[in-house]
Amino acid sequence: MTMNNRVKAVHESKAESSELIMPNDTNPLGNLMGGNLMRFMDVIGGICAARHCESHVVTASVDHVTFGAPIHLGDVITLKACVTHAFNTSVEVYVEVTASKMGSQEPKKTNHAYLTFVAIDKNTMRPKLIPKVKPETKEEKLRYESAPRRREIRLILAGRIEAKDAVLVKEYFGNL
Ligand SMILES: CC(C)(COP(=O)(O)OP(=O)(O)OC[C@H]1O[C@@H](n2cnc3c(N)ncnc32)[C@H](O)[C@@H]1OP(=O)(O)O)[C@@H](O)C(=O)NCCC(=O)NCCS
Repeated sequence: MTMNNRVKAVHESKAESSELIMPNDTNPLGNLMGGNLMRFMDVIGGICAARHCESHVVTASVDHVTFGAPIHLGDVITLKACVTHAFNTSVEVYVEVTASKMGSQEPKKTNHAYLTFVAIDKNTMRPKLIPKVKPETKEEKLRYESAPRRREIRLILAGRIEAKDAVLVKEYFGNL
């Protein structure tokens, strides 16, 4: 793989979208179905990752999503996505969801998740190297610094590394 020496700021790839929750998006109780919310999160996360990588991307993993408060038919949800850290061929994206009544200016946070996308070379269909991330704000720096630890945890859960080899997790939590 050819080196990618580029470094991009977080704001260069931020993505945002809003959705009006329609009958087709809801369950029989009139709340947004969890799977539909995850689809919206995957799409906005993918747009953000593709902007950072300047490439096609695929979703490699979605960290846990909790559904803390129901989102109702007729609510407007806003999804905001930003990159937190880029590794070799994969980038971690933070997606936050807020919901408000139609016309209201008081959005409430309902969900968030970290998603990992892998950049794909469209000729070889194999992962390709991506630009690094330069965090600038305090929040961006905090997410950037904690990202390698989250990566280790998700690679353990995916069975790609063994817990005994997880150096960062061990430093933080002790032995699992
Ligand atoms: C993701 C995918 C491209 C990885 O392919 P691979 O042959 O395992 O490639 P590699 O071993 O080189 O890993 C590539 C990167 O993916 C990351 N990765 C692989 N599985 C992962 C997982 N479960 N969670 C997070 N990252 C993962 C690796 O850590 C690596 O990142 P790095 O280069 O930044 O260190 C491949 O598994 C795939 O195509 N999956 C299906 C993707 C898809 O269809 N998504 C939509 C689902 S509906």
